[in-house]
Amino acid sequence: MIETRLTRMLGIQHPIISSGMMRVSTAEFVASVANSGALGFLTALTLPTPEELTKEIERTRDMTDKPFGVNLTILPSLKPVPYPEYAAAIIDSGIKLVETAGRSPEPFMPHFEKAGVQVIHKCTSVKHALKAQAVGCVAVEIDGFEAAGHPGEDDIPSLVLLPRAVDALDIPVIACGGFSDARGLVAALAMGADGVSMGTRFMATVEAPVHDNLKQEFGNRISVLSMGNFTWLIRTLGNMYKDQGCEWFMSEMCENSTPIIDTTKLTFFLLIFCQNRFYLFF
Ligand SMILES: Cc1cc2nc3c(=O)[nH]c(=O)nc-3n(C[C@H](O)[C@H](O)[C@H](O)COP(=O)(O)O)c2cc1C
Repeated sequence: MIETRLTRMLGIQHPIISSGMMRVSTAEFVASVANSGALGFLTALTLPTPEELTKEIERTRDMTDKPFGVNLTILPSLKPVPYPEYAAAIIDSGIKLVETAGRSPEPFMPHFEKAGVQVIHKCTSVKHALKAQAVGCVAVEIDGFEAAGHPGEDDIPSLVLLPRAVDALDIPVIACGGFSDARGLVAALAMGADGVSMGTRFMATVEAPVHDNLKQEFGNRISVLSMGNFTWLIRTLGNMYKDQGCEWFMSEMCENSTPIIDTTKLTFFLLIFCQNRFYLFF
């Protein structure tokens, strides 16, 4: 068994985190992760309302008595998200561990600290990690450019970023982005990390609520980056929408003659489907 500052601090068996994944990190999945001795995070925003989040926390508790937390991802959104209400639901549910990502957790820290909630912040640069430490986070997950989801705009891979973060910080540093097995864990520990945090690898597990066909594709497809023009870079699995981009979307629209009158929705769909080639139409 491997003991680190992370396992001691959180009372978990293994220095392994299943970082919050939108729509994947459900009650059943997070409870499975917790029961295996690692740490899982429910994703608050998977639930449409703070009330639903409260119920999801209760459902998780019904399935495990081991530690787990809630991920609060703070990102720009066309539809305003009631973040303070989600934070209140987390606190009122008695959750003692939160994973924040997207933006600095600073505005929420006084509320979390008052309620005895520990915050682990996930970020993509040493600068942001130092800020997280300064505002009272108990640990940071440092996300290299390999990471799925939003890997930051700096293009620094884990191999370079992790040792820099370890040297700069006093609080535990958890390696994130591109880790998928025991070799990665050993390498991260050798570089001074207190554990690893994984997304994609957990998404490929039997317990993840993801279609089996998609799990099979992990070994076959490369990941792709998009949305770079909007400083909202995202890494996803390569897919037909990305490959065919605008042309596919526009031909679908013409063939089906779908009437779209909601310009907000239209912009959103174009953003998603056209991605980097979005600007051609405007
Ligand atoms: C399907 C999926 C959904 C994700 N959703 C979120 C999210 O809502 N919030 C977040 O902070 N990170 C999210 N992530 C990123 C992961 O939490 C994690 O940082 C990343 O997957 C680590 O890189 P790896 O996939 O190489 O292990 C998501 C990742 C995946 C694969």
